[in-house]
Amino acid sequence: MKNIADIRKEYTKGALEPQEMGHAPIPVFREWFHQAITSEVLEANAMVLGTVNLQGRPSSRVVLLKGITDGGIVFYTNYASRKGQEIAANGFVSAVFFWPELERQVRMEGQVKQVSAAQSDTYFYSRPRISQAGAVVSEQSQVILSREALDARMTELLADESIKIERPKHWGGYEIVVDRVEFWQGRPGRVHDRVLFEKLSGIWLKSRLAP
Ligand SMILES: Cc1cc2nc3c(=O)[nH]c(=O)nc-3n(C[C@H](O)[C@H](O)[C@H](O)COP(=O)(O)O)c2cc1C
Repeated sequence: MKNIADIRKEYTKGALEPQEMGHAPIPVFREWFHQAITSEVLEANAMVLGTVNLQGRPSSRVVLLKGITDGGIVFYTNYASRKGQEIAANGFVSAVFFWPELERQVRMEGQVKQVSAAQSDTYFYSRPRISQAGAVVSEQSQVILSREALDARMTELLADESIKIERPKHWGGYEIVVDRVEFWQGRPGRVHDRVLFEKLSGIWLKSRLAP
């Protein structure tokens, strides 16, 4: 096996010019996400979500992007999960997308708020029935005694297709309203391009950061 320290890749696919990136980050993100989809980036909508608990201890996990708004991005989860509890304690979060096929990273920071119950309903009822059942049976992040107990609850819930599976009130969406977004493009020799958008007093400022 290759020595881990010898694993490296040169990045050659692109470059960033801040003056060509407009005045706000969301339009750029929409364009980059579209390019990730058309370039068939594997799980382009997967992002690493960082939350911080009341003691200042961070934790991270992957969640899926489910929408882009004028102010930020939307994902869905269990509000009572570890991440949900941390968000309730501290509404500041981070999100990172890594699209290796494009040699790009996008980092976002901001404050989260729950989306409306109506919006969560719309998304919940658009999901396959098995995913709806999964959201009902999983007390996400809690210790459980066995896989079998989970499977038995799924089987029971899915048995009668005529019964509507209701969205649990503790399951729904969050919108991350971003105030800091950084676009990163890999460049040769580790001299990468970084363009930062930062919202200060309601105005987006744009700058180039050292790699
Ligand atoms: C590719 C991928 C996509 C995921 N998407 C979601 C998601 O959209 N929502 C979610 O709650 N968990 C999702 N998960 C599971 C989370 O990473 C995590 O295990 C779960 O949300 C519990 O996290 P917590 O205990 O920190 O709350 C995904 C995991 C992977 C690997």
